[in-house]
Amino acid sequence: ANNMTPEEMQFSYKGVLYPSLLCSEASFQAMESFEAREDDVLIITYPKCGTNWTIQILHQMLFLLHNKEPTLDQAMLEFGKPEKYEDLKQKPSPRVLSSHVTYENIPKSFFEKKTKILIILRNPKDAAVSYYHFTNNNPVLPSYSSWDLFFKDFLAGEVIYGSYFDHALGLEKHIDDENILVLTFEDMKADLPAELRKINDFYGLNLTDEQIQIVEEKSTFKSMKEKSGDTHGKLGNVFFRKGEIGDWKSLFTEEQSKELDAKFEKYLAGTKLGEKINY
Ligand code: A3P
Repeated sequence: ANNMTPEEMQFSYKGVLYPSLLCSEASFQAMESFEAREDDVLIITYPKCGTNWTIQILHQMLFLLHNKEPTLDQAMLEFGKPEKYEDLKQKPSPRVLSSHVTYENIPKSFFEKKTKILIILRNPKDAAVSYYHFTNNNPVLPSYSSWDLFFKDFLAGEVIYGSYFDHALGLEKHIDDENILVLTFEDMKADLPAELRKINDFYGLNLTDEQIQIVEEKSTFKSMKEKSGDTHGKLGNVFFRKGEIGDWKSLFTEEQSKELDAKFEKYLAGTKLGEKINY
């Protein structure tokens, strides 16, 4: 793919690692003054927790309503060159935006405008395994020579986007805010129509049952994987890998599982957000 060392592929900003081929300190500084709109859709996730799935759902819902073709060109809010934020000003509403940054690093304007925020959580063990495969198969992200090395960095928060636990604790402080809806990957797997209805109500979209069913059909793993060449190009199969619950068992050792349990217990047990995570 390229000859960069793992160290060159990431940079640290305010103590957290980010992918140097996708964003920069300059783009982060430009993002701080991003002007949100009340009707923006903002999806916040830790990496590998269902971002692309949720983007697809929102695009489908808004597509049905506005009868226009959804595009993926806006992708992650923090990716791109500083000029990107000028381009976003020209985009018509509603803009579907997503981000992996911690709550504290979300541009302030979203809070001033009281933009509705959708948070998707996923079991950290499955997120870690998904992340390991993703970073090793995505040429713009650093590769790890073994799962054990990745797991060590994941637990220490020394992977791109930092600690799963810090990310979750940042969200925990805002979990009761009225402009926030928290969903989980596992609930979406178990009963997608039910979660779609929650999104429908949260945004006041008034979709019919028939429309919800269309969104459901277009948002299944199978359907998204089939179209992934068009939506995600050569990385299609990397973004849509398995789409299952419990794949952590394929890589975690007993000891690693206990280590993660202990970390979960220490950071998230008893928190409102921790209760929501299907752990
Ligand atoms: P796996 O690697 O476990 O397969 P993100 O979009 O945040 O990067 O998350 C990627 C994870 O979501 C991947 O998990 C991917 O397969 C899964 N995923 C994407 N679309 C999905 C869908 N429609 N249904 C179930 N899982 C999906």
